Amino acid sequence: MDDYDQPENSDDDIPINDNAGAQLIQKLKTYLAPGASLLELGMGSGKDLNLLSQSYVATGSDYSQDLLDCYLRRFPKADLILLNALTLQTVRKFDCIYSNKVLYQLTPFELKKSLVQQHRILSDKGILMHSFWYGSHVEDFHDTICTYYTEQTLNEIISKRFELLEIQKYQEIRKGDSIYILLRKSTHAVHL
Ligand SMILES: C[S@@+](CC[C@H](N)C(=O)[O-])C[C@H]1O[C@@H](n2cnc3c(N)ncnc32)[C@H](O)[C@@H]1O
Repeated sequence: MDDYDQPENSDDDIPINDNAGAQLIQKLKTYLAPGASLLELGMGSGKDLNLLSQSYVATGSDYSQDLLDCYLRRFPKADLILLNALTLQTVRKFDCIYSNKVLYQLTPFELKKSLVQQHRILSDKGILMHSFWYGSHVEDFHDTICTYYTEQTLNEIISKRFELLEIQKYQEIRKGDSIYILLRKSTHAVHL
């Protein structure tokens, strides 16, 4: 992503990149046709869902009912479901599953389990796009365990059930602090 090429920022001059979600969605559009059905995991305030809804038949989700209620007060007709990214208890299927800085709150073991469930609810040749914080450490942030991922640790988790389309570092706050993956559901039969 272009921002990654910018000069390194000093700690006392940190530009917040409010545009990071918009840049991810621009990239997603090169793989996912307009009008496709899309599920966002961990939508939070819904800033990305608003953008995704401009091009896709977008369904928002989060495991916090409070956050869903908050969005529904602003957009009563929104299609939202209460979903834990770990279990994805829904029978619905989607052409794409998207998340922005959500799955880093799963351990690598949980992320693997989530990807099995994502595979289940993804249409044939469906697309996944997920962003993470970049690094190879684990942090306890206000009692939430946060796992940082690299190209290598993500590749180890993805396995053969998905074809890797792109894996790329980018900048959200500091140079190279983030990474996204774009995957396509593999058409080959695989052992799950
Ligand atoms: C850091 S916020 C990111 C919100 C939004 N994606 C954004 O970019 O602004 C993480 C969001 O993921 C949700 N979340 C965390 N773990 C989750 C899980 N296991 N299942 C579903 N949502 C989860 C939180 O409730 C929160 O809304």
